[in-house]
Amino acid sequence: MNSKFGRPGIIEAQQFTREMIEDIFANTRQMEINPPKNLLSGKNMCILFYEPSTRTRFSFERAMKKLGGDVNVTENARVFSSAAKGETLKDTIRTLTGYEFDVLVLRYDKEGGAALAQDHSPIPIINAGDGPGQHPTQAILDLYTIQKHFDEIKGLNIAMVGDLKNGRTVRSLCYFLAKHFPDNNIYLVSPQEVRMGNDITQYLSDHGVCFRESANFYDLLPEIDILYQTRVQKERFIDNIKEFEEVERASRHLRVTTETLAMMKKNAIIMHPLPRVDEIDEKVDSDPRAIYFEQAKNGLYVRMALLAMLLTD
Ligand code: CP
Repeated sequence: MNSKFGRPGIIEAQQFTREMIEDIFANTRQMEINPPKNLLSGKNMCILFYEPSTRTRFSFERAMKKLGGDVNVTENARVFSSAAKGETLKDTIRTLTGYEFDVLVLRYDKEGGAALAQDHSPIPIINAGDGPGQHPTQAILDLYTIQKHFDEIKGLNIAMVGDLKNGRTVRSLCYFLAKHFPDNNIYLVSPQEVRMGNDITQYLSDHGVCFRESANFYDLLPEIDILYQTRVQKERFIDNIKEFEEVERASRHLRVTTETLAMMKKNAIIMHPLPRVDEIDEKVDSDPRAIYFEQAKNGLYVRMALLAMLLTD
């Protein structure tokens, strides 16, 4: 599983081929049904997170342990590593990769962090989110979830909703859909202030994907097969709380409620990478179309498959 740097690792969505995705899906299925218990016995994983996480961090840790491997974790590297004393990411990576780890999972607060780490690492780096850049393993579990529900990722009306400018999961998902599953309609629904970046809309255009940008989803709801909701990424507005409050205000009409559900198809699904703040009303959770916790659970099996593929022949 080589990154564009020619070395094993998972840095960005664009590095994957369709064949790799099919292999990951098959291996993920296997991990769900009958995981090989000691497959990664003797392997060691370092988890280095500069930003908070519940799902990515715990699912990677559980994935490694379920496969018999060992894990060391720094879950708040900004405070509990020498980053707090001013050490650069480059030096931290050079140091940690000397401690006989086999793989390093990195969440960084700036775009390009995983690529920089890969440049200075002799072991595979897994990008677990790099600021507003990408979150490729989340997008793979999203694709796996979609495939489980619809069998084929084709002919679907997919609405991505919310803070599309700063949402790294939707950015990675767009790359995957454009490159490998272009025969779907994509609706990019967001307030004007947080529209999807031009790099992504250009990529969609270049791959012939039919997409439309919109500030509202009401007219789309009866046609949508997948409503992929996201939160306003508060941590990207730390220098501009006023702008955050404006975006939050402008996003209120995009909340998913029981009224939203009433306008949607019976076999549609509602996804969310989580964490949720209030952009999906908790009353929606009991509807069978709300599959975000199942989506999060799939992350465990997808990450088991990815670790197995990276660390075995
Ligand atoms: N979806 C996701 O990345 O969640 P966490 O931030 O909890 O890892």
